[in-house]
Amino acid sequence: PEKSEDNLRSPICCIMGHVDTGKTKLLDCIQGTNVQEGEAGGITQQIGATYFPAENIRERTKELKADAKLKVPGLLVIDTPGHESFTNLRSRGSSLCDIAILVVDIMHGLEPQTIESLNLLRMRNTEFIVALNKCNSVVLIFSNFHLDRLYGWKNSRNAPILKTMKQQSKDVQNEFNMRLTQIITQFKEQGLNTELYYKNREMGETYSIIPTSAISGEGVPDLLLLLVQWSQKTMVEKLTYNNEVQCTVLEVKVVEGHGTTIDVVLVNGVLHEGDQIIVCGMQGPIVTTIRALLTPHPMKELRVKGTYLHHKQIKAAQGIKITAQGLEHAIAGTGLYVVGPQDDLDDIKEVAMED
Ligand code: GTP
Ligand code: MG
Ligand code: NA
Repeated sequence: PEKSEDNLRSPICCIMGHVDTGKTKLLDCIQGTNVQEGEAGGITQQIGATYFPAENIRERTKELKADAKLKVPGLLVIDTPGHESFTNLRSRGSSLCDIAILVVDIMHGLEPQTIESLNLLRMRNTEFIVALNKCNSVVLIFSNFHLDRLYGWKNSRNAPILKTMKQQSKDVQNEFNMRLTQIITQFKEQGLNTELYYKNREMGETYSIIPTSAISGEGVPDLLLLLVQWSQKTMVEKLTYNNEVQCTVLEVKVVEGHGTTIDVVLVNGVLHEGDQIIVCGMQGPIVTTIRALLTPHPMKELRVKGTYLHHKQIKAAQGIKITAQGLEHAIAGTGLYVVGPQDDLDDIKEVAMED
C-alpha cells in the first residue's frame, strides 16, 4: 500500500470572520479574481468553494524558498459570510474544514462575529491561523480609506511579510506593534494565546498571526505556506485519502441549461458520472443518478456563474456542481450518499433522512 504521506487529499480550509474584514478579497487576491466587487452590497451571502492546485501554491510561495515541501495535491478553500444573519452558513463551513483562516481587521480588532467564529472553531477543535488583514495604506476609491489603512505603510506587492515589515518606518512599526499588542490581549481575554507567526515557537499551543493585505497581497505567501505546511505536518491521518464517500450539499440552485443543481463539497472518496446517489429532500429521500459532474476552472469560484469543466469522475477534496433529475427539493447542509452494488437502498435512505 502507498505510504500515507504520499496519498494525501487536499486539505479543506474555511475562511471565517466578522463582516467586511476582507475574507472574499483575500481569496480574490490569491486567485486573481474579482468576486468581491460582484457581490450585492459587497456582502457575501452564500458559501463559496475554490480549488487551488499545488503548482499555484508553489508559485505564490516561491519567494519563501519552500519548494520541495508540498505533499498535498492542492487546497480547497471555503469562503463564508461574516454578516451576523448567516450563523448557519458559518457553522456549515466550519463543520467541513480541516483548518481555518480567521480574518481580523487590524483597524477594528476582535468583533462579534470574530468571536462567534472562534467559538465554532474551538467547539470542533479545528486548527486555525489568524490573518491580521488590511495592513496597507492603499487609497481605495470605494472604501472609507481614512479608517481602512495603516497610515504610511509601504506596500510591496505579494511580498512575504518579513520582507515588507523591514521596509516600514519606525513610526509605522510602532503603530503596527501597538495594534498587534491590543489584538493579542483581546485574544487572551477569549482564553487564547496568539503570536506573530515568525515568532511563534509553540505552534499548537499558541495560535499564529500573519499580517496580510488583500489589496497588495503582502503576507499572502506566508499564509498559503503555513496553511499547507501545518496541515501536512499535523493532520496526516485526517488527510489520508480514503475511498469512503463523504460529501455535503452546500447550495441548491437552478442553473440555466442544467435545471436544479446541487453544489457539494466532496471531503473524501470519488464520485462518478452515473453514480446512484441519495440526498435528503423536503418530501423524503431523493434517489437519483449523477448526470454531470461539473467544476469551475481551478482558481475560480464554484458560486460564480461561468463555464464549467465536465468530469467522468472526481477525487476528493473538491467543490462540485452536480446535475441530476429531481433535485428541486434537496436540502442544503445535508449529506450526499452513493449507493454501492452491495448496499441496501432503504438503509441509505434512512441514514440520509437523519441529516
Ligand atoms: P463579508 O463576506 O460580507 O463578511 O465581507 P468580507 O470579509 O468578505 O470582506 P470583503 O472581501 O467584502 O471586503 C470588505 C471591504 O474591505 C471591501 O471594500 C474591500 O475592498 C476592503 N478590503 C478587504 N481587504 C482589504 C485590505 O487588505 N486592505 C484594505 N485597505 N481594504 C480591504
Ligand atoms: Mg465575503
Ligand atoms: Na463584505
